[in-house]
Amino acid sequence: MRLLIRDIKTLVQIEERPTSMVSGSAMADLPSIDNAFLLLENGYIADFGAMENCPEYADKIINASGKMVFPTWCDSHTHLVYAGSREGEFVDRIRGLTYEEITRRGGGIMNSAKRLRDTPAEVLLENAYQRLLEVQSYGTGALEIKSGYGLNLDSELKMLRVIQRLKTMTEMTIKATFLGAHVIPQEYKENRTAYVDLIVDQMLPRIAEEGLADYCDVFCEKVAFSVAETERIIAAGQKYGLKAKIHTNQFNSMGGIQAAAKYDALSVDHLEVVNEEEIDCLKANKKMMSTLLPSAPFFLNDHYPPARKMIDAGLAVALATDFNPGSTPSGRMPFVLSLACVKMKMTPEEAINAATINGAYAIEEQTRLGSITRGKLANVFITKPMPSVAYMPYSFGTDLIETVIIKGKVI
Ligand code: NIG
Ligand code: FE
Repeated sequence: MRLLIRDIKTLVQIEERPTSMVSGSAMADLPSIDNAFLLLENGYIADFGAMENCPEYADKIINASGKMVFPTWCDSHTHLVYAGSREGEFVDRIRGLTYEEITRRGGGIMNSAKRLRDTPAEVLLENAYQRLLEVQSYGTGALEIKSGYGLNLDSELKMLRVIQRLKTMTEMTIKATFLGAHVIPQEYKENRTAYVDLIVDQMLPRIAEEGLADYCDVFCEKVAFSVAETERIIAAGQKYGLKAKIHTNQFNSMGGIQAAAKYDALSVDHLEVVNEEEIDCLKANKKMMSTLLPSAPFFLNDHYPPARKMIDAGLAVALATDFNPGSTPSGRMPFVLSLACVKMKMTPEEAINAATINGAYAIEEQTRLGSITRGKLANVFITKPMPSVAYMPYSFGTDLIETVIIKGKVI
């Protein structure tokens, strides 16, 4: 099956030779071709170039005049599987409580855990699948999805099995992350060590045995897990071949970045609060992606990660949604890009690199996704007519994505 997209106003994010990520000043470059064609064959990108070299034959031809074609977004940090919603806490915050205060009262993540434990897997699956279809319509072609609302063996397994079933229901690329260490559940408040023991001695071996996770995550924060607990869990995950992707520095600098670096984590995520020493640590560990989630501080009315400072220091950053019922009830990658530009002073080109190739790196899919490169998966979207690339983050809240193609199939 040959699908030809022709007369493309701008074909965005092309790479003649694949790179694994872009960092620092290189993030400002977004190689593109005006008046271009893109040929997709059997689910892969077969060729692309200027219209003067456009092939004539194809099984299906789409005319994209006035429109742009992008590689789909790689949303490398989500909590897509959850039960219920938490708009009560949203109102509590409007009235003055903070996210951390709500967590300490047993709300927050524990609130979602109580609901998830009582929700059948079939219901979780159906709700998550609807969210998946929704984010796909926003141009997302790959997702990382975390557990972390089970917080006991059975319910963590239930979540991870739902993620495993989601993988079979879509052409999208999905990676599963075990986040048993999301918060200390109520019943272990007086005995934290027993909960960490449960994760290390029972949850991880079982999850590894069933092959249910690709990565292991810990929420390293004052309201969640200490650095010592985080290190213990990362080390245990590593024994089963699970690389770490760590929630850290959302509210406090307490050594989470350094702990992640010590264990060669794949990414550190959030980073709303980052000091000089931590920037130095990130500079010394450039294989570890810094994943920024600006929808979370938007929704919590908190401060944003110092993206400008990080990129100017030569670092790579990725952008993801953090889609979850507490801090980010939204999976809109285009809105994340707008926030990155407006609130973090990233340029549109930097934001697009962060949401495509760098997001792909953060789920180890950079050889198959994240750019328009011959041989990569045919995951692309066609926009509505647009005057320029900057129009994408500029027109925040407007749906600009017209056609989504995953593995060569028009969705
Ligand atoms: O990434 N910070 C920890 N975890 C999620 C929020 C989870 C929740 O509040 O349900 C986050 O923001
Ligand atoms: Fe998160």
